[in-house]
Amino acid sequence: MNTIVNGLQWGDEGKGKIVDYLTEDADVVVRGQGGNNAGHTVIVGTSKYILHLVPSGILWERKQNVIGNGVVLDPIGLVREIETLEDQGVTITPENLLISDRAHVVLPYHCDLDAAQEQARGKFSIGTTRRGIGPAYSDKATRNGLRMADLLNPELARDLISVRLEDANFTLKRHGMTSHETAEVLGSIESALDRLRPHVTNTIPTLHKAWKGGKSIVFEGAQGTFLDIDFGTYPFVTSSNTTSGGACTGSGLPPIAIDRVIGVCKAYTTRVGEGAHITESQEFSDYLHGMGREFGATTGRKRRCGWLDCVLLRFASMVNGVTDLAVTNLDGLDQRDDIKICTAYEIDGVQHSFPPAQRDAWNHAVPVYETHPGWKSDTSGCRSWDDLPPEAQAYLTRLSELADAPVKYVGIGPDREQTILL
Ligand code: GDP
Ligand code: IMO
Ligand code: MG
Repeated sequence: MNTIVNGLQWGDEGKGKIVDYLTEDADVVVRGQGGNNAGHTVIVGTSKYILHLVPSGILWERKQNVIGNGVVLDPIGLVREIETLEDQGVTITPENLLISDRAHVVLPYHCDLDAAQEQARGKFSIGTTRRGIGPAYSDKATRNGLRMADLLNPELARDLISVRLEDANFTLKRHGMTSHETAEVLGSIESALDRLRPHVTNTIPTLHKAWKGGKSIVFEGAQGTFLDIDFGTYPFVTSSNTTSGGACTGSGLPPIAIDRVIGVCKAYTTRVGEGAHITESQEFSDYLHGMGREFGATTGRKRRCGWLDCVLLRFASMVNGVTDLAVTNLDGLDQRDDIKICTAYEIDGVQHSFPPAQRDAWNHAVPVYETHPGWKSDTSGCRSWDDLPPEAQAYLTRLSELADAPVKYVGIGPDREQTILL
């Protein structure tokens, strides 16, 4: 059974926790897009792990984890992450962590270019994670990028970086930023490359062998549908295809290898960074932050919280081909009197069931809500559908109806044990 796990909102839906849950019965976990802009939290007992580039399957023994060709990989960031995980007792070897030789690399100048571009956007800034993601994917698309295989060839890497820097330095200087030297860039990644070299391989035949051999593969999505460069709230998006199609192009496994698509959504909606958020509520954000919840796993920024937006969910379910929903953080609504669900946007007097493409339209979209009674009780101890209060069941049933997909998993807490299988 090969399963894609994708976010249906603006990221941070709880994908890491769901991947961790599924990994128990899987053999391989593969990341196919994004970079260390991602932050996937997995809580096991008293330990909290935050995965950025390493697939969340690493927390289980004897599973193969693959960083696929579609990922943009910051070697320094990855080594830091590996070391943090090792300090937490996680074993990482060339056998349980494979890195695609085709993965593009994020180098220090990409991070600076990210900052420079954000500055240049002025009031249109995106609020990126500043991890160099946009510039690295730009270099890939304009064919100025370096892949892991290139970096492992020192002569070639030197040449490629030195040509790329001529242009990159010009841009950096124009923005008043310090330029880079080839030797300094190479020097900064030297020890990271030494650490990563044994992990770098052609991951595609390995993944095909697993597929053909009947192994179970989980595709771990990063970011979420509305950060997708095609389907998201452009231009307030990331630079990769975060939706289910990205799992194939990012891993080298074909669409016929996929058996199901699990769409992960929170029981409400959050976003970090700039851009529209139609159901955003300051009162609800304060309420969740007051409980110590909804702070970004990568940047620590406060997430902007709002009610469940089913205009987003309906569209996300469609473009991802969601076969099953995983609804997380239901417990975040436990103490609310009334709970709202947005079923449509009203834009200039006309109701819309799907998100608009025109960027201006987001500025005057007004949510159309229906209100559901809260359950006002603690769900964190629930372990089955029947344990959930009737109001929570009704809420999930309505969510499923609006998203046009069945709910298969319900999260009622951050712990490995706090997932209800329906
Ligand atoms: P990801 O990027 O999609 O993996 O999600 P993040 O890890 O960035 O953010 C999800 C947050 O919600 C993390 O702090 C998780 O520990 C937490 N979480 C996930 N599922 C649940 C849940 O069902 N209930 C609660 N209370 N927290 C959850
Ligand atoms: P996970 O995998 C939430 C957001 C950034 C910014 C926009 C573009 O943990 O769900 P980028 O650095 O990618 O160029 O930033 O995308 N963003 C995320 N928001 N979760 C993520 O990943 C994100 N990755 C990027 O905040 O608004
Ligand atoms: Mg996250």
